[in-house]
Amino acid sequence: MTYPLRVAVVGTGHVGLVTCASMAAIGHTVVGMDNDEEKIAKLQAGGCPFYEPGLKELLAEQTEVGRLSFTNHVADAVRDADVAFICVGTPPRASGEASMVAVEKAGRDIARAATKEMVVVEKSTVPAGTAGRLAQVLNHERPDRPNLEIASNPEFLREGNAVRDSLEPERILVGAHSQWARERMRELYAPQIDKGHKYIETDIATAELAKHACNAFLAMKISFANALAEMSERSGADVMHVAEVMGADPRIGPAFLNAGLGYGGYCFPKDLQAFGRLAGKLGYDFPLLREIERINTEAVAGVFAKVQELLWNLEDKRVCLLGLAFKPGTDDIRFSPALALADLLIQAGAEVIAYDPEAMHAAKAEAPKLQTASDAYDAAEGAHCLVLCTEWDEFKALDFVRIKNEMDYPVVVDGRNALDAQSLLSLGFTYAGVGRGGLDSEAAMPDA
Ligand code: UDX
Repeated sequence: MTYPLRVAVVGTGHVGLVTCASMAAIGHTVVGMDNDEEKIAKLQAGGCPFYEPGLKELLAEQTEVGRLSFTNHVADAVRDADVAFICVGTPPRASGEASMVAVEKAGRDIARAATKEMVVVEKSTVPAGTAGRLAQVLNHERPDRPNLEIASNPEFLREGNAVRDSLEPERILVGAHSQWARERMRELYAPQIDKGHKYIETDIATAELAKHACNAFLAMKISFANALAEMSERSGADVMHVAEVMGADPRIGPAFLNAGLGYGGYCFPKDLQAFGRLAGKLGYDFPLLREIERINTEAVAGVFAKVQELLWNLEDKRVCLLGLAFKPGTDDIRFSPALALADLLIQAGAEVIAYDPEAMHAAKAEAPKLQTASDAYDAAEGAHCLVLCTEWDEFKALDFVRIKNEMDYPVVVDGRNALDAQSLLSLGFTYAGVGRGGLDSEAAMPDA
């Protein structure tokens, strides 16, 4: 086998498209496949179905040089491939378990279309044990099959940073059984291995478990910070400084200790649930995982309670939400804490008007009761409280004198501890952050 390889990518969601772009960018010939005809038509026309910084440009560049193409037909993608990535969705079932229906179907389709030996790579986040199931599917479909082997190669992409994360990965994790599959995966990643990126080879079960372990651990750090925020408020401490002190210890590290509305997105909430279910299935009770989720749900309830406390009755009150995406740098609103907060506020009778630089379109479809504004100043007009839900840079740079003039009451709840509290206080705002015991101002309802 000689470099470059022919790569098929089945499923062109976030993970799939970034995989298409980065595999092409390191020199392979890539065909991306999706059942969604509209999506493929858009990609063939040079578009990108969602916002991810740098992705549209990279896709266009790789298409232009002829290394990347898209199709609706799995056989066209897989026919001559050396490696086929499974990047389809694993949505949560009502039970919390991840649904593997699309993964099984992708495995079946790949097996039927395969014409030669190939490594079939699980890239979607899947519960440990999936590789065994996939191997079964490949066997059932093609008892006469060429050598089709499974490898696990979990993605560690952060939305908003996904292109960089895949081109300059902190680590590449590959779980495989045979020497042959391991060698082919090393060829696939040769350009990045040669550049010195950390490459970790394990067995398949270890790779599958490690991916869940990483996400659960990061979510645990966030929930730990949010639990500390509660302690800080009760004791008069400032959680931001507590986190700074903790983060200065290299054994702890500063990342993912920001208290606030908590985690959202399509990975952490879903993966935590799936990991918990997996633990149960394996006969191990892992209550820590449930605590992480409980604290995360309470983080939204805590910010809601602050707004209620500051405004007294929420009926007849107007609340401005800045930010709807689950984090900055993305238009993704899946499991966004901002939408959960909007829901609580609307249920309590408040009128909620929101603005987000990228996620408005998605939010309107998801939450029809939510009103939207054309910019942050527009959203603040007539509001009794402004809640910062997503820490986009543009919100940190707002002219708060103008915001104050637009608002009915100058009340700010900083759901991400991202604003300059002192300057807001000096402008006469009532300010409440998350876990900022010594700092929150007293005032609530302005005098009538
Ligand atoms: C995550 C993992 O980081 C990535 O490695 C994995 O492959 C997919 O899941 P992503 O979902 O894109 O990536 O978001 P991430 O940047 O990890 O943030 C997750 C959530 O945690 C966001 O809602 C963010 O606002 C929140 N968060 C993060 C906090 O509330 N506090 C923090 O300190 C850090």
